[in-house]
Amino acid sequence: MLDAALLSIDGLCVAYDGSNALNGVSLQIRRGELICVVGANGAGKTSLIRSISGIVPSSGGVVKMNGVDIAGMPPWEICERGIAQVAEGRQIFGGLSVEHNLLLGGSLKRAKATRLETLEFVYRLFERLRERRRQLAGTLSGGEQQMLAIGRAIMANPDIVMFDEPSIGLSPALTDVMFGVVKRLHEEGITVLLVEQNVAKSLALSSRGYVLENGSIVLQGSSSELLSNTEIQRAYLGM
Ligand SMILES: Nc1ncnc2c1ncn2[C@@H]1O[C@H](COP(=O)(O)OP(=O)(O)OP(=O)(O)O)[C@@H](O)[C@H]1O
Ligand SMILES: [Mg+2]
Repeated sequence: MLDAALLSIDGLCVAYDGSNALNGVSLQIRRGELICVVGANGAGKTSLIRSISGIVPSSGGVVKMNGVDIAGMPPWEICERGIAQVAEGRQIFGGLSVEHNLLLGGSLKRAKATRLETLEFVYRLFERLRERRRQLAGTLSGGEQQMLAIGRAIMANPDIVMFDEPSIGLSPALTDVMFGVVKRLHEEGITVLLVEQNVAKSLALSSRGYVLENGSIVLQGSSSELLSNTEIQRAYLGM
């Protein structure tokens, strides 16, 4: 057990209609860490993020944020406790402007007082969003929508941001931009849980990683250990 884990998950289970998507997942993140959970399609990555954020109910296990069990709390309360997510598929409000989407992200109690400063921080991070702040979010390109989803998560003034495959559907160049943004946020002091299929790039960015297969953690270790593991090289890195 790591001491002073910011987020500590023990034996987390998720089932849909009786079939298990997560079978007792345990992981810990200390404040200031950037860790990754990697796994193939259907491994349970999105289920993990959605159950931590309270969108999908868990069927067992404990999720502690700052020592408090948050399993079973509604999603808004989990956001107020400092956990934000950048969802797979972006989930922005297409009929609202870019700026309106961002301000909504900053409407939590924990974020309100500083939201104009945070908005400026987001615009400095993504000048593209500043230029397009009055545009309807639904008319943004895929990459711009991903920037907006990240910006909205930052607006919540989170202690930890969970990214669900931030590179999915992006060109290699934009993928590098997104991973650069994740790194930058971490350097700003935000704790990051990165969930990805891009095993090489996410292990290169993180200090530790977990490998999720069929709803179970099958391997964990420092990212350099995992990168030099021959099974991982064969199964995920095409070596
Ligand atoms: N709402 C749901 N109802 C029923 N089954 C679901 C539901 N959501 C996910 N599943 C199933 O749970 C398993 C894990 O899915 P999940 O979306 O968590 O995987 P993932 O690792 O995020 O995959 P991907 O990389 O394709 O996004 C899959 O078998 C999926 O079909
Ligand atoms: Mg997924």
